[in-house]
Amino acid sequence: MAEERMLITGGQRLEGTVRVSGGKNTAVAIIPAAILSQTPCVIENLPNIEDVNVSVETLRYLGAKVDWDPDAGVMQVDSSTINCTEVPLDLCSRMRASSYYIGALLARFGEAKVPLPGGCNIGRRPIDQHIKGMRVLGAQVDTTAGLVDAKCAQLTGGDVFMDMVTVGGTINVMLAAARAEGTTTIYNAAKEPHIVDTANFLNSMGCKVKGAGTDVIRVRGVKELRARRPYAVIPDQIETGTLMIAAAATHGDVTINGCIPTHMEALTAKLLEMGARVDERDDSIRVRSMGAHRAVTFKTQVYPGFPTDLQQPMSALLCTATGTSTIVENIFESRFRHLMEMERMGARVRIFDRTAVIEGVSQLHGAAVEASDLRAGAALVVAGLMAQGTTEISNTHFIDRGYEHLEDKLASLGAKISRVKY
Ligand code: EPZ
Repeated sequence: MAEERMLITGGQRLEGTVRVSGGKNTAVAIIPAAILSQTPCVIENLPNIEDVNVSVETLRYLGAKVDWDPDAGVMQVDSSTINCTEVPLDLCSRMRASSYYIGALLARFGEAKVPLPGGCNIGRRPIDQHIKGMRVLGAQVDTTAGLVDAKCAQLTGGDVFMDMVTVGGTINVMLAAARAEGTTTIYNAAKEPHIVDTANFLNSMGCKVKGAGTDVIRVRGVKELRARRPYAVIPDQIETGTLMIAAAATHGDVTINGCIPTHMEALTAKLLEMGARVDERDDSIRVRSMGAHRAVTFKTQVYPGFPTDLQQPMSALLCTATGTSTIVENIFESRFRHLMEMERMGARVRIFDRTAVIEGVSQLHGAAVEASDLRAGAALVVAGLMAQGTTEISNTHFIDRGYEHLEDKLASLGAKISRVKY
C-alpha cells in the first residue's frame, strides 16, 4: 500500500466556521454497546474515522448485520445474528477500545474471548481494573493465554471499587452490568463526557444507569435491552479542542459549531491565560488570537481536569509562547514523543520523566516529522500550521484513526494542507 504523508505550508491564519464531528471515544463505546440490544439499534452522528470502520469490521466478524453510511454518519446494528464471541487479534491490534467487547459480549452471551491489549506508543495500557470488575460481577476470567477468556451464564451486580480512575474500566463495567441481575455500584468512576453519553445510550435502551458524570455510578441491570429510537452521539471534545488550539496557533478567528462548550472548560481557561480570546455560546465556541501568547503550566488530569488527549496539541502551541511552559503528564507514562519530533522544527524542549519544559521560540520551521500516535499527529499538524515553510508528516494513518476529514476542515479555514502518496 502506498504511504501517505501530509504536507502543510505554515503561516496561514485560520478564519471562518467549522463543524465538529461526533465523538470518537463515545463512538467506540456505543457501537459495542449495541450488542446488548435485542432489537436493531440506529446510531447517528458517528464520525467517519478508522476506529469506527474497525468497529464495523468487528461487529460483522461476530456475525452482526451492520449498515454503515459513513457520509451520513448513521449506523444500524442488528446484533440478533451474532454467532461468535471471540474477537480476533488483528482487529484488536487495530483499535485500543476493543476491550469493550469483553463487557458487551459477556453480558449478552455469557462469554467473551478478546486478546489482551499490549502497551502502545503512549505507554502501558493495562486492563486489570476491567477484569477486576467482571470478576466482582461473577465472571470467571482467565488471562493466561494472552487473551481475556471470560465466562458467566448470568452476571450478578456487585460493588466495584476502581483502584484508579479509568475511562475504559468504567465503561466496560457499565456494559457488563447492564444485563446483570441486581445493582452494580462503581466507585471512583471516571466522569468524562463519553461516560455520560454511554450511560444515556444504555438508558435509552431501558437500562437504569444513575450517577454517570459523578464518581459513583449505579447500574440496575435489566433482562432485556431494546433500542427504541435513534441515538446521536455527542460531539467530539478532543476534535473541538484541537481546532481551538489550531485557531490560536495561527492567530486566527475560528468559530467551532456543534460543540459542547462546557466540556472544554479546562482548555478554555488555559487559552485565556495565554492571552487568546474565547467566546462561548450554547453550542459553539469562537477562538480569536491577536498578539503573542504567554507561557503556561498545566498538569493532565481526569475530567474535568486538563485532558491528556489535548496535552499533545497544546504543547505544540506552547512551543512559540513567550517564556517557559511546564507540562506534567499524569495519565500516560510516555506521551511526549511528539515533542522530540518538534525539536526538528526548532522547538526547545527538555523532558524529565513525566514533565516537559518548553522554552518558547519566536518561530518554528517546517521539517519532515513522524506521528507516533493519534494525538501526536494532531500536535504535529498544529506545529506545521505555525511553522515557516513546509512540514511533511508521515504515519498519517494515526491521524485517520480519530479525526474526520481533518485536512478538509483546516483547508476550509484557509490552511495550506494536502496529502501526497509515495
Ligand atoms: C481512554 O483510554 C481514551 N480512549 C484515551 O483516548 C484517553 O487518553 C484516556 O481514556 C484518558 O482520558 C478511549 O476512550 C477509547 P484509562 P483508556 O483507562 O480507557 C491506567 C485518544 O487519543 N489503567 O482512563 O485506555 C492506564 O494505564 C485516546 O483518543 C490501569 O492501570 O484510559 C492509564 O495510565 C488515547 N488499569 C490510566 O489508568 C486499568 O485497568 C488511565 O487509563 C485501566 C487503566
